Parts: sequence; C-alpha cells; structure tokens
Amino acid sequence: MTLPESGDAARIVRESNYVGWRRQTGWDPILVTRAKGSTFWDSAGRAYLDFASQLVATNLGHGNAALVRAMSAQARQVAYVAPSFATEARARLTESLTRVLPPGLSRFFYSTSGTEANEAAFRMARAATGRSGLIAIEPSYHGGTSGALSASGDLRRKAVGASSEVPGTHFAPACYCYRCPLGLAYPSCGVACADEVERILDQADDVAAMVVEPVIGTNGVIVPVPEYWPKVRAITRRREVLLIADEVMTGWGRTGSWFASTHFGLAPDILTTAKGITGGYIPLGLTATSEDLHRRLSDAILPVGHTYEGHPVALATAVAAISEYERLHLVDRSRREGEYLLRRLRELARSHPSVGDVRGLGLFAAVELVRDQERKTPFNSEADKIEGRPLVVDEVLRTLAAEGVYAFGWVNHIVLAPPLIVTRKEIDRGLEAMDVALKVSDAKLDRAA
Ligand SMILES: Cc1ncc(COP(=O)(O)O)c(C=O)c1O
Repeated sequence: MTLPESGDAARIVRESNYVGWRRQTGWDPILVTRAKGSTFWDSAGRAYLDFASQLVATNLGHGNAALVRAMSAQARQVAYVAPSFATEARARLTESLTRVLPPGLSRFFYSTSGTEANEAAFRMARAATGRSGLIAIEPSYHGGTSGALSASGDLRRKAVGASSEVPGTHFAPACYCYRCPLGLAYPSCGVACADEVERILDQADDVAAMVVEPVIGTNGVIVPVPEYWPKVRAITRRREVLLIADEVMTGWGRTGSWFASTHFGLAPDILTTAKGITGGYIPLGLTATSEDLHRRLSDAILPVGHTYEGHPVALATAVAAISEYERLHLVDRSRREGEYLLRRLRELARSHPSVGDVRGLGLFAAVELVRDQERKTPFNSEADKIEGRPLVVDEVLRTLAAEGVYAFGWVNHIVLAPPLIVTRKEIDRGLEAMDVALKVSDAKLDRAA
C-alpha cells in the first residue's frame, strides 16, 4: 500500500471522517506529522507550540522516551488479556496510584475515557445508594455519552437535544465570581452559590451523588473562592450525598497539585480521571473509590464493565507516566510556571481592552473576551456556537495559529494549558503570540458603549 502524498492525507481525512463536537462543514484539519516536547509540526514543516496540551492531555509533552519504552515493552510481554485476569501492570499501577491520589481512594475501576470513568461513577453511586438523581454544576462538562452529557451543564447537551437526555440531573450554579449567576458580589454574598446545593436537596429526595469539576475546565477554567468547596462538601456529607470529583482535566499536576481536590480539601468519595493519566499517549479512564463504597458494592454484580477494562498497555503507560511526573517534578513545576503564566497574562491583559478576565490555577488558565470591559458584554452567545455563526474567539485562535501557537477556545474564552514540561522561553513565545492575536478582538470592541 502506498502512503498518500503529504498534501493528500488531510484531504482524505477531511473527506472520509467525522470530527466530534463541531460542524462538519468547514473542517480543514492541519496534517500533523511529528511532535516532540511542547511542539508539533505540520506536513510543510511548520512548527506549532502546543499551548493547550492538545485537549489538556499531553501533560508530559510529546515523544517522551520512557512512555514509549513502557508501551512497547508491555505490548511485547502481554498486549491484552480479559479484565478478569490480573497482570503485573495492574498491580504496579495500584502502587503508583496509592502514592499520588488523595487519601482514602483505594479501589480502582479502569475504562478508556473520562466519559466512561464518569458513567461508571454514576452507576456505582446509584447502586450504592439506591437513588438515581444527580446534582451537577452549570456550567460543566462530564463527557459525551447520554448519561455523562445529561449531567453536563454544557452547550453540547443543548446541541444534542432532549431525545438523548437521561433525566434526573439537578443543576446548581457555579461559583463564578466574574459573572455571578446569582447577581451577587464576593465576599458580601456569603458564598450563597454553595447554599443552592442545600436548596436543591430540600426539594429533591432522590439524589445519589453530586458530580463536580474542582476547577471547571472547558467551560472557562473557573476557580472557586476558598470557602466554596468546604461549604458544598459539608452539605453533601450532612445530606449523605456522595461526592464525585471529576478530575479528568484538573488531575495530574495540571493545577499545581497532583489533584485539584487537594487544593480545596474536597476529599471525594469517588474521583474520576483520564487524559493526563497516560499523558494522552493511550486511552485510559480511572474511577477511584473509597473502601466504604467498595464494601457497599461488593455483593452485587458491578453495574459496569468493558472489553478494554484494565488494558495492560494502557496501565503500563500510566505507571511510566506517574514515574515521569515524579522524576521531572512536574507538579511543582506546574505551580511555579503557572504563577508566572498567570502573572504575565494579567500584565498582557492591561494592554488589551477586549480581555474581560484572566483566571487560572497552575498551568491552567483562561482568558475571557468581552466587547465591553465595564459591562462585561460577551462577543458571542452559546446560540451563536450551536447555530454555526462566526465567533470572535475563533478568529483570535486562527491568528494565534498563524503565529505558530495552538490553543483551544469555547464561546468567549481561550484555554491555555501547556504541557507541564513547558520552558519559560516557550511560555514567553506563547504570550507574544497571544499579544498579537488579542489585537483581533481589541479591534471589535463596542466603541459606542
Ligand atoms: C472535566 C471533564 N470530564 C470528562 C471529560 C470527558 O472525557 P473524554 O473526552 O476522555 O471522554 C472531559 C473531556 O474534556 C472533561 O474535561
């Protein structure tokens, strides 16, 4: 078989593939031919700084030799066995996870994505409590299947529509101080958004669990005030509702601690993760639970399972990834370099009137764009995105790409999440490109306002 000419490969992919969570029309993918460290290259040899770790997954950067070695060694030894077998990789990963997960999470279920990790968490919570409802936060994203999407306060749920909806999720407002959903101001608000969880529980007696992103990711890198999680956690404990921390994006050093739950003393009953667990090198989802939950689930059929549950190559990759996070001190690095990134972004914002807010934690930041700083008027609406109208944020991202920097955006914000191995020089280069790209949104301000 002959390989397609390099110019042809992107066209063949475009003309033969679907691509998730976007309009198919207008998709014009870059052909990526090589990746190393924090950089990837297209077929014309053009370099792009990966300023988003793809989808906040390649935390260890591209082309890590230890990961590639671990994958190929495991593939040679035992590439695949059914989930009912034990493997050395599975035992080794238990040891590694116990070292880095928040204390109290000691039982592990493996799948192949963040979505499946959350689906498993929901099923386990329902089976353990005999209740079916969930509380989730608006906005949030917990995955693409019907169950996970129904628990997502995300425009993708609205785009898919009610016909795929699994009923039973109650949505609580986010602790999003820049645009307080309750119209209040911190600290005089008394963190009233957390009290909304209690209010929901007063009205609903079917709730098995509350699922949360400790720092809301795709929907804006929203970092809550310090009192928020302790208050929510106290409510869930008192009302005997399980707490699921979705650390698919925030895990693995991204926010400057191994898991963002630790920043806030969240102590979840269930923690779900994926992405950075293998540095994105191979699909793997993890649902980690307390011993108590395991005890409650022990005498019934586990309500979940997959062919690729506990896939040896994925688990061996995770063992190697955890060793690399440790060897390269990437959690500390994320905290240190994250402070630098945030400080520099805030400086940059001063010369860009279209920047409404800059926020983040560790190497995880968002720049929110507005057409009027004082009124915080957004450029675009969720409806604009769902209905395929051009978004200002996409224009900014295109300019960023033309400057050789890749990041992704949502309706009105850009997410910046470089690999945790990123160098100061690379951060500076990314920020220089941001400086150029933000001129695009600056030029679209509401001058009349
Ligand atoms: C917080 C969060 N949960 C769940 C998911 C779904 O993970 P996956 O795309 O691996 O199924 C994502 C994906 O971006 C996520 O950010």
